[in-house]
Amino acid sequence: MLLASGAVSASEITFNMTRGATAISQQVYDLHMTIFYICCLIGLLVFGAMLWSIVRHRKSRGAKAAQFHESTRIELLWTAIPVLILVAMAVPATSTLLKMEDTSKADLTVLVTGSQWKWHYKYLEHPVEFYSLLATDRKQIKGEQPKGDHYLQEVDQPLVLPVGKKIRFLMTSDDVIHSWWVPAFAVKRDANPGYINESWTKIDKPGTYRGQCAELCGKDHGFMPIVVVAKPAEEFDGWIAKTAETQAAAKAQQQDLASQTMTLPQAMEIGEKVFLGHCAACHQPAGTGLPGIFPALKGSKVTTLAENRNHHLDLVLHGKSGTAMLGFGKQLSLQEVAAVVTYERNAWGNNTGDVVQAAE
Ligand code: CUA
Repeated sequence: MLLASGAVSASEITFNMTRGATAISQQVYDLHMTIFYICCLIGLLVFGAMLWSIVRHRKSRGAKAAQFHESTRIELLWTAIPVLILVAMAVPATSTLLKMEDTSKADLTVLVTGSQWKWHYKYLEHPVEFYSLLATDRKQIKGEQPKGDHYLQEVDQPLVLPVGKKIRFLMTSDDVIHSWWVPAFAVKRDANPGYINESWTKIDKPGTYRGQCAELCGKDHGFMPIVVVAKPAEEFDGWIAKTAETQAAAKAQQQDLASQTMTLPQAMEIGEKVFLGHCAACHQPAGTGLPGIFPALKGSKVTTLAENRNHHLDLVLHGKSGTAMLGFGKQLSLQEVAAVVTYERNAWGNNTGDVVQAAE
């Protein structure tokens, strides 16, 4: 899935809504067009009448205006006509809205969790879950793209869904408000921390569908792409079975690793990789932090004092609420957490000699 980002040609840029790839999205499109034409017609009539009277009476300067004060007939008319128009628009709009909200009788449920700045997908009927991250280094993407052109963002692992099945989405968030938006499905639902929102889709055709986080959620809001790959149902079944197997094997291997005792050099080697991949962006590769923003780990009380060892471990596992420090307990294996804590307690002259074991 690690594809170079191809430029979208200008002909693909449209000003209207997309028709989408589901029955609902097409219904939403048709509704949008109906309302749009009704509004155009009203605009034409109102502005037409106004222009007509301006032109018709252009030489009547100084004339006395006609008075319609307290005309019951006119007041009834200009109340009744708009009411009828509004009701006529509300009927199809309400029926579409009700259909969009009906998440019952789904064949498959996917829990979508947003976090700064990635999506997590969990198939509730299957033992499969994973993070979906921006695949290519964004500096590279910027460098490759022609200036001023659109580009496609790829993810390391797309959300795979079956075609022709009703898929129910449960949306939530780990931190701030995100919004899961795939225009082709006409699905755009906020992912709020502490709440679960619902939505659903039924995809007609196999293919790749793209979306974006649609709620400003911090500095990398623009880099939370959504890629959905829709496969025929049998192919999907094969994929989910294989992925469940691979994930179960990886879990078993992790448990196996976690039960092994690490030596200091082993832990340092694994820990350095984890540190550079997850921690160095804020705490800096040399553990110096950024004064006033991210605390230094080099020579700090947390990473050097024996009595803070458990607190240190807890910070890495669960984060610190109210700060930018996130918990890594879900993303990293226990062995990786143990190794990175060991690394931080021994690198940059911290030299505590502590070796934290995964079994702890
Ligand atoms: Cu997540 Cu914007």
